[in-house]
Amino acid sequence: MTKIAPSILSADFTKLGQDIDSIKTADYLHFDVMDGIFVPNISIGIPVLESVRKYTDMVLDVHLMITEPVKYVERFADAGADIVVFHLEADTPENIALAVQKVKAKGKKVGISIKPKTPAEELIPYMKDLDLALVMTVEPGFGGQKFMADMMPKVELLRKYIDENGLDCELEVDGGVNPETAAVCRAAGANVLVAGSDVFKAADRAARIKSLRG
Ligand code: DX5
Ligand code: ZN
Repeated sequence: MTKIAPSILSADFTKLGQDIDSIKTADYLHFDVMDGIFVPNISIGIPVLESVRKYTDMVLDVHLMITEPVKYVERFADAGADIVVFHLEADTPENIALAVQKVKAKGKKVGISIKPKTPAEELIPYMKDLDLALVMTVEPGFGGQKFMADMMPKVELLRKYIDENGLDCELEVDGGVNPETAAVCRAAGANVLVAGSDVFKAADRAARIKSLRG
């Protein structure tokens, strides 16, 4: 079954506990970290993650949109992330490989994300080590943007690679997901869908999560 990962970037941070309760039928809680350098926006970080970890047993899917993730991945693992995802574009290949190993050494799941302009082929050398591959379907930095359907060939390529090689790797998409675009993502082979604004603006969030699963 398709997994849904609501992004708390679209939550009301003055009532974050209530907002987390409202999405507890989802599979993962997606936690967007932005540093104002890798992306032109600043969001939330380690102290908020620690609080969220104490509050919920949900799987915390932490999406680091930060430069030099190798310097921080262990701290996010210690703060309570279950899955630590960082960007391929955020450091040298050597440091990206090192960051993968650091997350694994903490006993956490690890993922790598690619921005819209990055070809899926660049992820292939890392795939055998990953628990999750994330294809961005918007330019990272902001919620509420329009879904880029032209990213679907990348999802299809990675789905084929995962299946042909029998990898135990989830395939996630992030950005502009709503019930219509979710169907497109599922058809292309994604099995984890991040949705921020679409879930949090819904009057009945549980029903919205159900409809995103298809
Ligand atoms: C964007 C973030 C997304 C964002 C998605 O940089 O990585 O997770 O919250 O928001 P929506 O679903 O509104 O596009
Ligand atoms: Zn995200």
